[in-house]
Amino acid sequence: MFGPLPNVVRLLDAGAGSGSLTFAFVSRLCGRKEGVRVIEAELYELDPLILEPLSTTMWECGRLCTKAGIQFTFTIHPADFIQEMSARIAGNLFGAPPPSYEAAIANPPYRKISTDSAERRALRSVGVETSNLYTGFVALIQRLLVPGGQIVGITPRSFCNGPYFRPFREDFLNHMELHRLHVFESRQAAFRDDSVLQENVIFHAVKGRHQPREIVISSSSGEHGDLITATVFPFVEVVHPHDVEKFIHIPSAPSHAAAKETMDGLSSNLASLGVTVSTGRVVDFRLKDSLRKEPARGTVPLLYPCHFNGGTVHWPKLEARKPNAILDNDETRPWLVPSGVYLLTKRFTSKEERRRLVACIFDPDQVKAQWLGFENHLNYFHASGHGLERSLAVGLFAFLNSTVVDQYFRRFSGHTQVNATDLRTLAYPDRDTLQAIGREMKTLEISQEEIDQLVTNHLHACR
Ligand SMILES: C[S@@+](CC[C@H](N)C(=O)[O-])C[C@H]1O[C@@H](n2cnc3c(N)ncnc32)[C@H](O)[C@@H]1O
Repeated sequence: MFGPLPNVVRLLDAGAGSGSLTFAFVSRLCGRKEGVRVIEAELYELDPLILEPLSTTMWECGRLCTKAGIQFTFTIHPADFIQEMSARIAGNLFGAPPPSYEAAIANPPYRKISTDSAERRALRSVGVETSNLYTGFVALIQRLLVPGGQIVGITPRSFCNGPYFRPFREDFLNHMELHRLHVFESRQAAFRDDSVLQENVIFHAVKGRHQPREIVISSSSGEHGDLITATVFPFVEVVHPHDVEKFIHIPSAPSHAAAKETMDGLSSNLASLGVTVSTGRVVDFRLKDSLRKEPARGTVPLLYPCHFNGGTVHWPKLEARKPNAILDNDETRPWLVPSGVYLLTKRFTSKEERRRLVACIFDPDQVKAQWLGFENHLNYFHASGHGLERSLAVGLFAFLNSTVVDQYFRRFSGHTQVNATDLRTLAYPDRDTLQAIGREMKTLEISQEEIDQLVTNHLHACR
């Protein structure tokens, strides 16, 4: 993915492992004969057990380069990249200014870093505020590149839309020009051996302040030797110029492009519909003493995603491991909502589920109560803290469960999590259209095809 490189390339491989990425870089340059004369590789690796294989790979790189007439040197730093580079960038290491690189290749470690961790403190000292190690690595690498310096990285896709990654996206897009993104269509293929369900991207970015007019988006299944399809998109379709969240939308298949066209035709948002979406307010471990397995006097229904049952809620579910009820008292009341018609969505979907967005209706006619608890693993749509008008709720139910929304959603969300922010930034049909859809739906137990038909008919009719 690298573009043309200067004659002398200082290459950084942070979190080098056994050096496979540097090896790929070197062998590609040796094959291309594009004028690179000198490669000076610097590799950072913390795991002492992998240093020997890393060194072996580097000697192999040296042999390849000698054959190709390229001068190759390498330095392995058995050091913590985050600590060392933060200190050097911040100027805390006397006599060791930060190094500069023309190229960086990275498959950084992925791990959440808590607010008070040593990593977070080190990163904070150079103005980087981020909650995962991999974005910390990329943010530091970006600072070490010379103007025009390039990075090719493989990372989780979560930085493209997660709300916690917004400061990272802003920083990255302000200093790096994004030229290419590659996505894997299958979440399983890339990390099958580790059974990690993580969608990954490979990106190529160049240090500079002017985003290109166009960006190449490519995709492949993630299986070895499969076909890579690539399409050029206007950059503004990938990062919308006025989007304060700076989401990175990744269009891949033609059906996703069609979904985008449909969604672009919608002019309403939740605020104009008078609807709000919030994350369920009952955080169960904080109210442990008030939770009850079975409904009893003085309790109200507590709803978890396990209560989703097709289009509606099945409550109580006594065979489930989760509690079914919560005491209604002074301590819990602030976390409860008055009963009414609510639209609920799961915040986390399992890989078995066909859709990322799974919505159902809470119907107060089916579950009698004055107050309700919505647990933190679900989002609920409400009107200023109260239930929704029924046909509007049912219209939203059909819209959010439709394939078109699912495909649109997948364009920018690579993981199975659906945050309230994601639902807030979606475009919605206007109130009349949603209510018309809602009135036409006689039952919530209809097939995906019927939902899609209904939604498509109404969305086309309102154009
Ligand atoms: C995802 S692996 C990638 C390895 C290699 N680049 C590859 O693609 O095969 C990340 C590597 O970063 C190393 N690592 C983790 N934390 C590190 C740190 N703070 N500084 C340097 N290396 C680190 C791990 O030991 C691991 O080898």
